[in-house]
Amino acid sequence: MNTLLKSHKRTIAVHSINKFAFSVPDVAIASNFYRSFGLDVREENDRIDIYTFGHQHCWGTVYKGGDRKKLQYISYGIYAEDEPEFKEKINKLGIGISGHVMGGSEGIWFSNPDGVATQLLIAPKISPSKKTTPDSALPPELGKGAAPSRSKVHKVQPRYLSHVLLFTPDVLRMVEFFNNVLGLKVADYSADIIAFTYTPHGSDHHLVALAKSNGPGLHHTSWDVGSLNDVGVGSEQMRNAGSKKGWGVGRHVIGSNYFYYVEDPWGSFAEYSFDIDYVPAGFEWPAADHVPEDSLYVWGPQLPENFISNTEIV
Ligand SMILES: [Fe+2]
Repeated sequence: MNTLLKSHKRTIAVHSINKFAFSVPDVAIASNFYRSFGLDVREENDRIDIYTFGHQHCWGTVYKGGDRKKLQYISYGIYAEDEPEFKEKINKLGIGISGHVMGGSEGIWFSNPDGVATQLLIAPKISPSKKTTPDSALPPELGKGAAPSRSKVHKVQPRYLSHVLLFTPDVLRMVEFFNNVLGLKVADYSADIIAFTYTPHGSDHHLVALAKSNGPGLHHTSWDVGSLNDVGVGSEQMRNAGSKKGWGVGRHVIGSNYFYYVEDPWGSFAEYSFDIDYVPAGFEWPAADHVPEDSLYVWGPQLPENFISNTEIV
């Protein structure tokens, strides 16, 4: 009986990143950058909303404000039936806030251990519910090469937001908080330097990753594309658009995805990602501690020196 009850116990956890939100001094620069990246950027008054083409969901908002880039808040999607339990947890911890000046007051708001505003909102699950498949390419006609002419290359358009990487001064404290409050679980980690978390409702190998820094911040947003070729084409697309700095193309060890990180106008990054590992709903990914020098990438160019600098710290 106990086993039966246990097996039917609901998993209380966020199921998706509903939205990332940061501010920059000039949203026109942000608009130009994300448009070039291949995203559907919709301009509102003092902000831009970021969509992927062919998808209803707004994945992120960039607001106008301040004299440097600043992470404003992270919004997570939850199921309606879990709302009372989340409310109770937040109340017990005494960390609730009434809302956010840019993000409004809908849903449950609290301040995380780093002081970053966080929203829990009843919303549809928009993290993938199975491993996404590569975009199919028809086999080339016999006698014709598979590669297109340079002038015939299509613009890369990412399919969905895979994950974000947040800076935190205390990775282990944040992992504990994520686990106890948000229900996110650790997939893999490297000492107290970096940790990767997924949702037990099923998501990519990492939904939110955490990297050690002197303060909070948003290191990168990662966008799934349909092929390794798209990762390379994306890198070229951004070089042609004037964003010449970045890291890749390469392949990660943790998460296994092929990557190219474009340096954005504020010294952080946007990642093209292909073929990341997937953690199905209910599966417990065995969390392993990886040696730092053997965990970052299987192959690729050397890591740029500024790759892990947090430009949001004054
Ligand atoms: Fe990433």
